[in-house]
Amino acid sequence: QNSNLVKGGQSIYAQGIAANNTPACATCHGAKGEGMQQFPRLAGQHADYIVKQLLVFQRTDERPEGSVMKTVAHGLTPENIAGVAAYLEALPSLQ
Ligand code: HEC
Repeated sequence: QNSNLVKGGQSIYAQGIAANNTPACATCHGAKGEGMQQFPRLAGQHADYIVKQLLVFQRTDERPEGSVMKTVAHGLTPENIAGVAAYLEALPSLQ
C-alpha cells in the first residue's frame, strides 16, 4: 500500500477534517477500529468494501434517511475515502 495514502487516512480516522467539520472516525468506531455496540468494526475490512460503503452513504437515495454516516461521509473526497480505506485495511497489521 501507498504509505502517504495510509498516513492521510490515519489522520482522518484519528482527527477528522477540521476544515469541513468531518468528525474523527475513532470517536464512534473506536481508536483501533474495533467497533462498539451499534458502531461496526472497521479494522481489517477490505479497502474495496469500505470505499463502496462510503460511496453508498454519500448517495442519499440508497440508504435510509437518518444514518449518521451520511453526514460523516458528505465531506469526504475520493482521495480521503481511498486513504481511510487503505488505513483501515492495514490497521490490524499496524498495531
Ligand atoms: C457519530 C458516529 C460515527 C462517526 C463519527 C463515524 N461513523 Fe461510520 N458508522 C457509524 C454507524 C452508526 C454505522 C452503522 C450505521 C449504518 O450502517 O447506517 C457506521 C458505519 C460505517 C461503515 C459501514 C461498515 C459496514 O460494515 O458496512 C463504514 C465503512 C464507516 N462507518 C466508516 C466511517 C469512517 C471512515 C468515518 C470517519 C470519516 C466514520 N465512519 C465516522 C457511526 C459513525
